Amino acid sequence: MRLSRRRFLAGLSGAFVATRLPAATERITLVADSIDTRIAGRKIPMLGFNGSLPGPTMRFRQGQAVGITLKNHLDDGALVHWHGLRIPNRMDGVNVLTQDVIAPGRSFDYQFRVRDAGTFWYHSHYLSYEQVSRGLFGAFIVEENIPPAVDHDIVVQFFDVLLAKDGKYDEAFRPNQFSTEGRIGNVVTSYASVSSVKAGDRLRLRLINPSIDRIYRLRLSGLVGRIVAFDGMPLSEPMDFETILLAPGQRCDVIGDVRGNVVFRDIWGPDEADLGDIAVSATRPPTPEPIKPLPPNRVPPMQKPSRSAELVLQGGVGGLPHRGTGTWALNDSSGLPRRPFLSVPRGSTVEISVRNETGFPHVMHLHGHHFWERDTAGTFAAFRDSTFLDIGEQRNILVTLDNPGAWMLHCHMLSHQADGMATWIRVA
Ligand code: C2O
Ligand code: CU
Repeated sequence: MRLSRRRFLAGLSGAFVATRLPAATERITLVADSIDTRIAGRKIPMLGFNGSLPGPTMRFRQGQAVGITLKNHLDDGALVHWHGLRIPNRMDGVNVLTQDVIAPGRSFDYQFRVRDAGTFWYHSHYLSYEQVSRGLFGAFIVEENIPPAVDHDIVVQFFDVLLAKDGKYDEAFRPNQFSTEGRIGNVVTSYASVSSVKAGDRLRLRLINPSIDRIYRLRLSGLVGRIVAFDGMPLSEPMDFETILLAPGQRCDVIGDVRGNVVFRDIWGPDEADLGDIAVSATRPPTPEPIKPLPPNRVPPMQKPSRSAELVLQGGVGGLPHRGTGTWALNDSSGLPRRPFLSVPRGSTVEISVRNETGFPHVMHLHGHHFWERDTAGTFAAFRDSTFLDIGEQRNILVTLDNPGAWMLHCHMLSHQADGMATWIRVA
């Protein structure tokens, strides 16, 4: 793992036969612990993996077998979920549904094969609204067997933190943070894996939103490029863009050419905010090659649904009453219900109408599968693991449930998930 692209290319030309043998399992240890980190110029106590926030970026080759030992050095429980990866259910890292919480001082071995190349991430799935907002997340990159030709492959993570008056992580959790747009930080930072490039360089940007509740609408300047993937899954045709919506948990890959300092601005809120940049240090002639689609992952073909279902998002401040016990509900139930929202035989294709009846935006994430998202033109275009629903919005998604197990379906605004916006699907 953590092969740089250069090392990978060298390896490929040197040993073609070796790449055909089953790849040996890469073994990694991930230690969840308290750390001190610098945010907004100050050293503050947060949480991290292997001493850092964000946790180490893991890089693997498509098809590789991975073994990750999670060691819990926290004073609390721990669990890690591999967001967007289509892996066996018992490796999914969800308490109640797939495994027990790892007690302090204990460890757990996660083992799976990475089927899909793309941009994924990992994060705590235990008290996630708190543990993720304290720093328990990181990027999980699976490289294509033939990666696109770029000069830099850059991971950029946008993260916000709520700091109290004393400059430390705000320990107070107020009810209105759970019942409105979430616990929005007052400091926004970005972490880019490369800080300086040349004008003329071709970049692949892997944009990730690990913030618990904050939505970004990104405007990029200094880069002329196209979107090549959403949520780790390549688009069949690269797409032009003016802005990129990145709701919590979502990812977007962009390939483009540098024209000047690459500046990330967020225009989601009433005030535009600067999120950081990648500086230009020199100039070189640009790449003449067009931006091509990424090689596709092996995903189930789009099929006619054998059944349909409806998922209604309810609750929150100003929302209509519902029968759930939490602030938020899905189909009149809050938190993981005893009976799943859907129970289907393996391989079923279901069309789900998702309707946001609340006064806030949400982003619904399904574990263990990606789904086709119907766009405003009425066609199923993007294959994603999380779909964004603005206030009053309704969208159909089409999913082939081919991965057996109990899979969580929840709002990835983690404060909403914590207060009821969660359910699950059983695939037998
Ligand atoms: Cu990234 Cu259930 O979450
Ligand atoms: Cu939500």
